[in-house]
Amino acid sequence: MWGGRFSGEPDAVMADINTSIDVDRKLFRQDIAASRAHAEMLREQGVIAPQDAQRIAHGLDTILSEIETGKFEFKRDLEDIHMNVEARLAELIGPAAGRLHTARSRNDQVATDFRLWIRDAIDEIDASLAAYQRALAEQALAHAATVMPGFTHLQTAQPVTFGHHLLAYVEMAARDRGRFSDARKRLNECPLGAAALAGTSFPLDRAMTAKKLGFDRPAANSLDAVSDRDFVLETLAAAAIAAVHLSRFAEEIVMWTSPLIGFVRLSDKFTTGSSIMPQKRNPDAAELVRAKTGRITGALNALLMVMKGLPLAYQKDMQEDKEGAMDALAALSLCLAAMTGMVRDMTPDPDRMHAAAGLGYATATDLADWLVQNLKMPFREAHHVTGRIVAAAEKAGVMLDRLPLPAMQAIEPRITMDVFRVLSVERSVASRTSFGGTAPKNVRTQARKWLSRLGEKQK
Ligand code: ARG
Repeated sequence: MWGGRFSGEPDAVMADINTSIDVDRKLFRQDIAASRAHAEMLREQGVIAPQDAQRIAHGLDTILSEIETGKFEFKRDLEDIHMNVEARLAELIGPAAGRLHTARSRNDQVATDFRLWIRDAIDEIDASLAAYQRALAEQALAHAATVMPGFTHLQTAQPVTFGHHLLAYVEMAARDRGRFSDARKRLNECPLGAAALAGTSFPLDRAMTAKKLGFDRPAANSLDAVSDRDFVLETLAAAAIAAVHLSRFAEEIVMWTSPLIGFVRLSDKFTTGSSIMPQKRNPDAAELVRAKTGRITGALNALLMVMKGLPLAYQKDMQEDKEGAMDALAALSLCLAAMTGMVRDMTPDPDRMHAAAGLGYATATDLADWLVQNLKMPFREAHHVTGRIVAAAEKAGVMLDRLPLPAMQAIEPRITMDVFRVLSVERSVASRTSFGGTAPKNVRTQARKWLSRLGEKQK
């Protein structure tokens, strides 16, 4: 492509380090779409002749179907997708192919192609996040009243419902979708026409190419257009946070399915056995979701380091933006599919959850609240009295609702039989009706709200 200036061949190592076709071939659709838009615009602006524009369009169509059907021969010595497509176009249509690169550079080409590619990836991930939310909300509705222990410090804290716990992940996924959608809004400006870095003397209609490719507007500064990759960084940041969210849930699934806890069972669909221990049922998919967070956050960090300190405008360093990002977004899609599958597959064990919810004096706060409400005790004092009652129950080796009334009255004489009304785990969760609280009726309302919202979005 630059034969005029060069007479020798590159060293084999030079070719190896320079080539990107093994990675950027995934941009073929976007590259061809952007070339089509560019050629149409050049024709409408009178920069290239209509017959040439038509030959170019037909040639590009042929190349697209050659690639789609596996007939296209990618050549490593042509470096990247842009030159592979252009070289093939020259084979197919002859000299007219040479007119396509008028008023264009690989710098604005690659920036355009990758924005289009990331935009598609964001749309796919958004749909996967919505499916994941839907699966969670469905289970939440089914288990709106299934009591389980809530933890802080991984110590039994207060009873909650399984549905409420699942809806927490629906909220996280909603914010994840918000982050992707913010990134999408900002990336949706078209670099095409910025050319190498300075713009061009040809009478381009950049608004036209932007519109043809579904961008909101052309990027306003040619240097910025070809030299920033913040759209990849933002998308990877959104992916990293989403992956961290998934890893937390994955870890809970690993714990819940351990025989030591046994809150949830996964079927054969999402577990594997052991080659030596016949009794084993391992939650490998959850463990791998937990692990893949490493490569996803790693891709963000790697690209931040690539971009750090790069002067304007395009630098070849930026060719390193694709491999990690493509790998990370593919990993996130796979994680989302696996988590959605596991959410649908999991069967909770309500009896074990219920028994565990009652352990560890989980209704102690309810006792303190009863003292506040019925004896008008200040909460701090009620906390202290309850602490003494818990200590007495611990000493007697019984749960709170099994400690005899006289034993409680020995600590606070004004306590009556009425207190037992609030000491069961069901009563406890049912009483948490504050907005955002775990009461089954709240959980039902929230789960239904999500299901109808997600249903609407689907069409
Ligand atoms: N393969 C290159 C990349 O991905 C395309 C841009 C090359 N531009 C250049 N001036 N060498 O960044």
